[in-house]
Amino acid sequence: MIAPSILAADFSRLGDLVKEAEAAGIDRVHVDVMDGHFVPNLSMGAVVVQGLRPVTKLPLEVHLMVEGPERFFDGFVKAGADSLIVHLEVHPDPREVIARVRGLGKKVGLAFNPDMPVARIEPFLKDIDLALCMTVFPGFGGQAYIPESTQRIAELRALVRKHNPACEIEVDGGIDAATIPLASRAGANVFVAGTAVFGAKEGIAAAVKNLQRLTVPVA
Ligand code: DX5
Ligand code: ZN
Repeated sequence: MIAPSILAADFSRLGDLVKEAEAAGIDRVHVDVMDGHFVPNLSMGAVVVQGLRPVTKLPLEVHLMVEGPERFFDGFVKAGADSLIVHLEVHPDPREVIARVRGLGKKVGLAFNPDMPVARIEPFLKDIDLALCMTVFPGFGGQAYIPESTQRIAELRALVRKHNPACEIEVDGGIDAATIPLASRAGANVFVAGTAVFGAKEGIAAAVKNLQRLTVPVA
């Protein structure tokens, strides 16, 4: 499944570009929220989800790269978010926030950065809908996929198979035609791509089709 990150989209045409991506067959829209504290960049808030909600029927998944993400749950849910992803780095024991998101009737994901051991997410896999294995250090689009990520994805796939086979494995950062086969063969099944979709010189539709063609079903 392809989840383009709107971070890489031309914000003067955001709604049209999301519609174009939907027509191209993407599965969900990935909204990268950054607070300038957890990551050294500031991006967008719930108002962007609110603006996109009437534009697309697709699920809007919100990647909260922020300190104290629970402060923003109500705002994003009210704006129309379908799932909320928080970082283990800011909630090493995320059981409380998982329960909060569930209480709001939304899907919950846990993300972890390239320097966090994959094993840290193991105790929580049974409680979540999505595990996001970052393939760059978050903060900016257009970075290069960290090669060690491939092994980490395989490790995560083994843990998901053991604890919660229904849990999605998402990757985010530097996902393009060269790296999506690696991540896919290692066991990822949801692929965030910003630059490779909204920055594609061949256009959104061709880029999405090409990325979909380069994934393999999870064994
Ligand atoms: C964290 C962000 C980016 C973005 C994807 O920095 O989450 O990884 O979504 O960026 P690209 O696909 O342009 O590398
Ligand atoms: Zn993201």
